[in-house]
Amino acid sequence: DKLAVVIPAAGVGSRMQAQMPKQYIPLLGKPILVHTLEKLAGLECVSQFMVAVSKEDGYFSSALLPDSRFSHCEGGQERADSVLLALKALAPSRPDWVLVHDAARPLVALDDIHQLISQCINQQQGGILAAKVKDTIKRGAELVQETVPRASLWQAFTPQMFRYEELLAALEFGLSQGANITDEASAMELQNQPVQLIAARTDNIKITTPEDLPLAEFIIQQQGK
Ligand code: C5P
Repeated sequence: DKLAVVIPAAGVGSRMQAQMPKQYIPLLGKPILVHTLEKLAGLECVSQFMVAVSKEDGYFSSALLPDSRFSHCEGGQERADSVLLALKALAPSRPDWVLVHDAARPLVALDDIHQLISQCINQQQGGILAAKVKDTIKRGAELVQETVPRASLWQAFTPQMFRYEELLAALEFGLSQGANITDEASAMELQNQPVQLIAARTDNIKITTPEDLPLAEFIIQQQGK
């Protein structure tokens, strides 16, 4: 089976309160995006990588791409738009499967990605890396309305892996309906397609707020040991 990877990297990172989009903030001297791309480049089973970059991005350069399997395309308004544009850019190479991985998750473990790939191919069903929720979860605004039973709650991570044609159709449908699509699985769910939950390491954090930066640097140092 032919595998491709899409890396949405066209966000502005408003929650980071930084000068530059968060994917360019350095961790241990190297931009977050470069950490992510270099990690993914370790996937030898992948034939093509497509990075979605904002057209207003003044920081991107193709010199940041690790090897000749990588190319880039223009991103869109929302994350789902960026993923759809990247999928379309991959159309000429006709991949069977595609993994979508956030540029803002440089800490993902390759072992977990290999687990996801083998599970999806063995079961012939899409899936996502995820972890059972650890905290007690409340619904509410200023006051608690209720405690949500957490036994069946999972945090969705990336990568998320689906059949290329099915994900393309699901995203086109979801976006045309104006649905709130914050990950690929939610688009597949709208089509009543099954999504496997693959339990993964919880240090695959999405770098979002300033306090994530020292935590991410610490995790990178630990992984290097
Ligand atoms: O904003 P958030 O952290 O949810 O973004 C997740 C990923 O999606 C980031 O890697 C970000 O760069 C990307 N993104 C994108 N296009 C957008 C918005 C976000 O590629 N319009």
